[in-house]
Amino acid sequence: MIDRYAVIGNPVSHSKSPWIHAEFARATGQDIEYRPIEAPLDGFGRALEAFRSERGRGANVTLPFKEEAFRYCSEVSQRARLAQAVNTLILDAAGTAGENTDGSGLLRDLSVNLGREVRGQRVLLMGAGGAARGVLGPLAEAGAAQIVIANRTVAKATELARRLPGAPLEACGFEALAGRAFDLVINATSAGLQGETSLLPQGIFRNGALAYEMVYGRDTAFLAFARACGVASCDGTGMLVEQAADSFFLWRGVRPQTAPVIAALRAG
Ligand code: ATR
Repeated sequence: MIDRYAVIGNPVSHSKSPWIHAEFARATGQDIEYRPIEAPLDGFGRALEAFRSERGRGANVTLPFKEEAFRYCSEVSQRARLAQAVNTLILDAAGTAGENTDGSGLLRDLSVNLGREVRGQRVLLMGAGGAARGVLGPLAEAGAAQIVIANRTVAKATELARRLPGAPLEACGFEALAGRAFDLVINATSAGLQGETSLLPQGIFRNGALAYEMVYGRDTAFLAFARACGVASCDGTGMLVEQAADSFFLWRGVRPQTAPVIAALRAG
C-alpha cells in the first residue's frame, strides 16, 4: 500500500507543496501520494486523525495551524520548541512527532543556492510573528555576529529575543533602525503585501547586502525598496522548496535535488 502524505491548512488550494513533493517523488523514485487537506478552522486535530487512520505517514502544516500542530505533538524537536510551531509532522501508531524545517530551509537557500554565509554577518530580522520565530534559532546557530529583531509591536520582539539567552540578539521598533546598517535583511512580516511603503530607513543596507523576502511569488513593498536601494534581493521560493526537501528527507531518508524544482517554480 502506498504511503500517504499531505499538507494541512486553511486555505490550502493555493499551496505549491503537492506539486513540489510530486516532483521530489518522481525524481527520487519514491512511490508516495501527497495531497492537500483543507481542515475547518476548528478542526485541525480531527482532520489529522482522519488522515492518520487512512495510512497517513506524515504531513506538512501551513497557516493557520502551525502553532496548534505544535501543541498537538507528542514529541517535538528543540527547533520546533523555540519556534512554538511546526511545519512537518511524522505520524505513527505511537504518536505525532513535530519538526520545523522553515529555518533550515532558509539557511540552506542562503548558503547553497545564494552562496551567502550567515556566519559573522549583521542580520536584521523584520517581524516577530510565526514566520520570524521559525527562522530565528537556525539563524543564531549559523553564527550571525548580530541579529536585530525589529517589529511594529516592540514587546513581541523583546519576548522573542528572550527565548534565546546568550545569542547576540537585540529587539527594537522600526523607528530605532535609523543610522544602522546590515548585511542581510530578512522580511518576515506580512506588511507590504497590500502595497504599503517600506518600513525601513534609507541606508539600512551595507555594501553587498542581500534583501530576503520570505513571501514567494509576489512583488512586495520590501522587494521594491531593495531594488530602489540597488541591493541584491530574492523572494522565498528557494526557502519554500528547501523546507519541503527537508520534510521529504525526514519522511523518506532521501534528499531530493532542489535546483530544478526552484527553477521550474520561478519560471511559472
Ligand atoms: P506570520 O505567521 O506570517 O509571521 P503573524 O504571526 O500574524 O503572521 O505575524 C505577522 C507579522 O507581520 C508581525 O510581526 C506583525 O507585526 P505585529 O507583531 O506588530 O503585529 C507584522 N505586520 C503585519 N502587518 C504589518 C504592518 N502593516 N506594518 C508592520 N508590521 C506588520
